[in-house]
Amino acid sequence: MSVVRLTVRDWIRDARRIAVLTGAGMSAESGVPTFREAQTGLWAQFNPQELATEAAFRAHPQRVWDWYAHRRNMIAAVEPNAGHAALARFAHANPGRLTLITQNVDGLHQRAGHAHTWALHGHIAQDQWLDTPRACCDVDALESGRPPRCPTCGNLRRPAVVWFGEQLPVQALEAAEAAVRACDLMLVVGTSGEVYPAAGLAFTAHQSGARVVIINPEPTPLDVVAELRLPEPAAVCLPAILT
Ligand code: APR
Repeated sequence: MSVVRLTVRDWIRDARRIAVLTGAGMSAESGVPTFREAQTGLWAQFNPQELATEAAFRAHPQRVWDWYAHRRNMIAAVEPNAGHAALARFAHANPGRLTLITQNVDGLHQRAGHAHTWALHGHIAQDQWLDTPRACCDVDALESGRPPRCPTCGNLRRPAVVWFGEQLPVQALEAAEAAVRACDLMLVVGTSGEVYPAAGLAFTAHQSGARVVIINPEPTPLDVVAELRLPEPAAVCLPAILT
């Protein structure tokens, strides 16, 4: 095993509190294409950043709904990988030591058995109302369609994910901030570090005195706060350092 891996393994063993932030690269080896990867087939003509917004949904509800349906189908067909499993195993074996924060909406950490996962960007498998629900808005009486709607007022269902320009769920963000301030080691796995406030968590951990370790085959803007970088795929690296 490389010296860097051995060092990180020692840090994990010695850390009292570990915070882990994951991004799309965490699920790459499960077969979920990362958000910024080229889209394929029908969707190649669209930029994801132009589909994942409230304005796009209001302008083209069927198009955006269908894109999410495509992503939901893709995610339903894949399995958690060895990296998800290693994190879940470690958390189970070390209660209270590891806080998992994810930007992923795919639910793969949860499916791997990671009971407490702070999902900063929501859950793709779930829906919610687009506009504040009125008395007539009843999820058990939806008019089917793409998207489904309230038959009385027309309020639309939308994926329960955080779109560009939207606020993150307050409880999850506060829990994530508290965890990175309190940790002595932070692992940042498979994120491009481009999207805030999630990316800012690595800076907060660093400023609070924690060691930051980045697991990502590619360089990222978060490397400036990394004490060590493991330029490896998550599903290979995590099982090696968490055992
Ligand atoms: N293991 C680890 N990292 C990987 C792997 C892998 N097997 N494969 C790719 N990566 C890295 C890439 O090098 C890249 O830095 O994962 C990162 C994926 O970056 P993004 O696609 O930008 O994903 P993410 O950082 O999660 O995006 C943040 O932005 O698109 C929105 O809301 C969406 O949650 C998402 C957020």
